[in-house]
Amino acid sequence: MAMTSLKTPMLRVGTAIAGGLVILGAIFGGVRAASSAFSTKTPAAKRAELASAQASRNHDLNLAAASVGAMGTSAPQASDAQVSLGRAIFFDPRLSVPEGTSCASCHDPRRAFAGNHGSTSGVALGSRPNHFAKRNTPSVLYLRFIHKFHLHWEEDAPLVNAYAGFFWDGRVDSIVDLVKQPLLNPDEMNGGEPRRVAATIASGPYAADFRKEFGGALDDPDPNAILKALGEAVTTYLLSPEMAPFSSRYDEYIRGKEQLTTTEAMGLKAFKDPAKGACSGCHKLNDRSPDSKGSLFTDYEFDAVAAPRNRALPANHDPNYFDLGLCERADADYKAKTAEFCGQFRTPSLRNVAVRQSFMHNGVFSKLRDVVAFYATRDTNPERWYKSGTFDDIPTKYRDNVNVEKAPYNKRRGGTPALDDEEIDAIVAFLGTLTDAQFR
Ligand code: HEC
Ligand code: HEC
Repeated sequence: MAMTSLKTPMLRVGTAIAGGLVILGAIFGGVRAASSAFSTKTPAAKRAELASAQASRNHDLNLAAASVGAMGTSAPQASDAQVSLGRAIFFDPRLSVPEGTSCASCHDPRRAFAGNHGSTSGVALGSRPNHFAKRNTPSVLYLRFIHKFHLHWEEDAPLVNAYAGFFWDGRVDSIVDLVKQPLLNPDEMNGGEPRRVAATIASGPYAADFRKEFGGALDDPDPNAILKALGEAVTTYLLSPEMAPFSSRYDEYIRGKEQLTTTEAMGLKAFKDPAKGACSGCHKLNDRSPDSKGSLFTDYEFDAVAAPRNRALPANHDPNYFDLGLCERADADYKAKTAEFCGQFRTPSLRNVAVRQSFMHNGVFSKLRDVVAFYATRDTNPERWYKSGTFDDIPTKYRDNVNVEKAPYNKRRGGTPALDDEEIDAIVAFLGTLTDAQFR
């Protein structure tokens, strides 16, 4: 389902289409020249024309959902040795400066591969005191189902939708490329020069295995060779089946092997009910199929939910600083031309959400119940969540991007919340059934 289809009243369709064209134009280059020809046509005609422009380019630009494979499911089966090597690197605390912080310090297996690394502000501590990641740590489980970032035009939708990619803003398409970011980021692992990384690997317990898999990468004078090899090893591990266990009570339930309690069942119902939580509109599930892959609890689309500002974040001490999410992608002219995407973040999977330490891209919530209560009362009682009484973590000029059309956040101030306390508790209980066996 296209969340934006319900989000934008007809009034905004004209500008929305124009915005969409600019994005596509920015990305396609060649289409931009043709875009002015659309302007006098009806929205339907514009969409049709745009769709054919997309179709002719799908090929190299990965635009249609159907043409983009999920990251891990089509990859050749990796050997156990390759997976073990990737795992050893992921857990190696010697790769940071100073030593002591591995990928697993933030992507903590005791927390279903997410975590704050000892910080209480909602974002993880890096390898040095007073250095913090910019956003809340997502879990690195179930990444094999994420597709490459692309734009996606739903039938009848007034707006183009952004879809998938890694990170909260979908800005990276391959884990191989991604790994150097936390590894070298001074606020995260602060790993130093690629030469230091190579020396650490060469002196590590898995050096021989690394040489076997990646031949000369350790001695290659090109510093990118070692980062690429390390990225490939970690990718193999993160996309391996062990990182998508599907062993939760919910999975057993859809396989017909487990019952839900009365409260959990009530929570599932409210989670799906379009007049209650309506959560499954974005956090997708299919409880009528025993195939867990139909229940990833995300549609990988982006939305502006308007999480309250997290005043504990160092960057937020500057009142003019805002994390704009999808606008922060560097590859297109999003910031200047496609204001529609500012404030949007990728819908996270809710698998293992109950063992997370903080919630939302900015880690503003530390209790799962608060997140669910926020959804229920954001619009009816905004002063409960926002000091200023209204969306406070998005610049005023982008405030209209916040989704106020889609259930459950389509209520009026002072109205009846979509969920009462009992239903909120039930949804929280249901979310507890999504914890995989090894993290309970
Ligand atoms: C200091 C904490 C920290 C460390 C250490 C860390 N990460 Fe992360 N990781 C994060 C944060 C925060 C994000 C989200 C960043 C964003 O969205 O901008 C993230 C995102 C990711 C993602 C994307 C997940 C998704 O759902 O899109 C992957 C993959 C990942 N990290 C892998 C790694 C690997 C591999 C290492 C080790 C080389 C590592 N991380 C080390 C904090 C950390
Ligand atoms: C219109 C799409 C949409 C709907 C409907 C929706 N969500 Fe979300 N959800 C999101 C997005 C997008 C985020 C990330 C927002 C952010 O970080 O700013 C999110 C984040 C969350 C998180 C935090 C997860 C984490 O890893 O930090 C929880 C929990 C959650 N949603 C539960 C729910 C529940 C429960 C409902 C129903 C009451 C619901 N959502 C309805 C899109 C949606």
